[in-house]
Amino acid sequence: MSEKTKIGFVGCGGIAESHLTGLAKHPDVSLVAFCDINLSRAKEVAEKYGSGAPLCRQDAKTFGDAKVMFDSVELDGAYFCLPPFAHGSEFLAVEHGVPFLVEKPINLYLNQAKEIAAAVAEKHLLTSTGYMNRYRKSIQTVRELLVDDPAILVLGGWIGGTPRPGPSGGGIWSWWVVKDKSGGQFHEQVTHTVDIVRFLCGDVVGVHAFAAKGLNKGAPENYTIEDASVVNLHFANGAVANLWASCSANADGGGVSLNVYANQTTALFTGWEHSLQLLRAGQEKPEVIKGEPDIFAIEDDAFIQAIRQNDPSRVQSSYADGLKTLEVTLAANESMETGKPIEIAVS
Ligand SMILES: NC(=O)c1ccc[n+]([C@@H]2O[C@H](COP(=O)([O-])OP(=O)(O)OC[C@H]3O[C@@H](n4cnc5c(N)ncnc54)[C@H](O)[C@@H]3O)[C@@H](O)[C@H]2O)c1
Repeated sequence: MSEKTKIGFVGCGGIAESHLTGLAKHPDVSLVAFCDINLSRAKEVAEKYGSGAPLCRQDAKTFGDAKVMFDSVELDGAYFCLPPFAHGSEFLAVEHGVPFLVEKPINLYLNQAKEIAAAVAEKHLLTSTGYMNRYRKSIQTVRELLVDDPAILVLGGWIGGTPRPGPSGGGIWSWWVVKDKSGGQFHEQVTHTVDIVRFLCGDVVGVHAFAAKGLNKGAPENYTIEDASVVNLHFANGAVANLWASCSANADGGGVSLNVYANQTTALFTGWEHSLQLLRAGQEKPEVIKGEPDIFAIEDDAFIQAIRQNDPSRVQSSYADGLKTLEVTLAANESMETGKPIEIAVS
């Protein structure tokens, strides 16, 4: 493909900008359409990445309705950067045969996600999900080692402070702290860890979760999510994990962590960037691999090259794979509510 790959965005908020920063400089990409239900936001982003970036189209079009965008602009690829409750427009991409990347978590509603997955499969459409940590050298290195020395115990999660929106209260705070919109911190944020753990350890067959509620102080009025949760996972190969979320720890000491213990290998990941300390039995010094700061650009280039070369193997996580992670986090939510363990059928 010698022409530039024409890309459109549905949802032009915070994460869209993380992708656009790199895509606007990508020599093979032309950013041609921006859609947001907040049309002024679509225009703002089009202005910033359309006129500010010399490699992008100056005549990028803006829309307040995704159907109008897909009906009127010819696209080679689309990004869906929507809050968990606002999905469904992926059907338009399927209808028009447009490959797409959808941000994590891929939905809030399992049935709708399953319908989208079925439609994608029927069309054999190229898809990607926003689990960018799969592209990290640290994660890839450990994944290879675990093939012959499988993980037995995994511990990890995200611990942060009480959500404190600024005076405008807008942006993600209008939905992140609302359980019926985000699905809660485990579903929305720790989905990254669940996905990596699935990538490293395989299919999850059992989930049992507990949540803390009503203890957080200083949260905004619309706050209905859990203050913290712990989730036990059981894998098809017999391994176990304990993952956690907290948005109520204001004295630091938390952050993002993931510890993987196999018989001969210990992998200690720290920080959003998943930097790695790798310990091997019988080896004196740990190997250190630093996490990549520009991981969105790496993930985006894989998606763009997959489209250009019609090569789905470049993508580390398809929609169908994202659906499996979704099943686990939604099972955790169900278990938090009922107190009961949930079994997951391996497909
Ligand atoms: N991969 C990552 O590390 C990462 C980081 C941040 C956010 N995310 C994910 O990205 C998604 C979006 O998060 P965000 O931070 O960009 O949120 P945001 O609130 O900043 O942006 C969402 C945008 O979508 C628009 N929108 C809502 N409903 C729409 C619809 N039906 N059609 C078109 N536009 C619509 C909103 O007006 C808003 O501009 C979430 O699922 C979040 O979990 C991923």
